[in-house]
Amino acid sequence: MEVLEKMTVVFLALTVLFSNSLSSMASAFQFKAVYCTISNNCDCAFHPDLQGLEWELYRNVYGQHLAQEAVSERLAEFINDASPEKPLVLSFHGSSGTGKTMVSWLLGRYLYGSAMTSPHVHHFIPTLHFPYPHRVPQYKKELKAWVEGNLTACARSVFVFDEMDKMPPGLIDVLVPFLGSSHVVYQTNYRKAIYVFISTAGEEQINRLALEARRAGRDREEIRLEELEDAIAQAVFNKSCNGFYHSEIIQEKLVDCFVPFLPLTRRHVERCVRRELCLRGQCHRRDIIEAITGAMTFSPERERLFSHSGCKTVPAKVNYYL
Ligand SMILES: Nc1ncnc2c1ncn2[C@@H]1O[C@H](COP(=O)(O)OP(=O)(O)OP(=O)(O)O)[C@@H](O)[C@H]1O
Ligand SMILES: [Mg+2]
Repeated sequence: MEVLEKMTVVFLALTVLFSNSLSSMASAFQFKAVYCTISNNCDCAFHPDLQGLEWELYRNVYGQHLAQEAVSERLAEFINDASPEKPLVLSFHGSSGTGKTMVSWLLGRYLYGSAMTSPHVHHFIPTLHFPYPHRVPQYKKELKAWVEGNLTACARSVFVFDEMDKMPPGLIDVLVPFLGSSHVVYQTNYRKAIYVFISTAGEEQINRLALEARRAGRDREEIRLEELEDAIAQAVFNKSCNGFYHSEIIQEKLVDCFVPFLPLTRRHVERCVRRELCLRGQCHRRDIIEAITGAMTFSPERERLFSHSGCKTVPAKVNYYL
């Protein structure tokens, strides 16, 4: 035990010493790998609060019973398994402003305390990280090295790939070897990682089903995951301008769950407006709630059931109206 404690101190010192440049980061990863091998203690600062996450999804993510259930259940199943067969791979789909990015941040926050600052939650945005399609070969190398290095340092790393619609096709397939069941390096288990992909692909299928359900007088909460999963998988595979276009990840069925985000109704948007007002100490302003929802666009044109931009523009509108 004493030896291990000493090694921890030496490891931390070396990490600090070497953490000032990219090449030295690789050295730090190697030291960490040796440390992991000896101590068998490389789950980082991973203290998941699954009950907290479930409660937060239930209370603060409006109208997304499928996402609430799928994310809570899949995560619990995965995290309670000390030796999972493969990493957890979730793919979020739905129209703009329905809560996809919000849920990915919540997931990071309840696994690591703070998704924004945790070194083990990695958020990629193609327009920022992979902006030039002609550089795909270079991005592939960098992404592979980044994922490999971080998994060596922390088996329970979380990788979020947002805005997959803008990801150059072909790039994401560099992750195929990491998403299956076989990859192990330096004793650190690649199968403990969590990957989340986010895109609007599949929104037509999701929105059509939500509309049909509504017209048929079916409760929104009666819509089941199985009614949408295959349709979403096909849509992302066949949609030409998105990162999963003809992707091996879909072909090889490496995604564990396609999570649909349903279009938000007027009632949900009202709740978003009210929450924003309350944050500003103005909960009682019913007039503003009505003014904002009245000014937003809902479709289809005749029935005006679902918000075009979900809740995305709500904070800006609240600022404007106050
Ligand atoms: N279902 C929801 N429940 C509560 N708030 C929501 C919901 N959906 C969106 N919001 C609010 O709207 C903001 C924008 O949502 P978010 O960024 O998650 O949208 P998105 O689905 O990622 O859209 P896009 O595809 O345009 O990126 C959130 O920060 C949150 O305040
Ligand atoms: Mg988003």
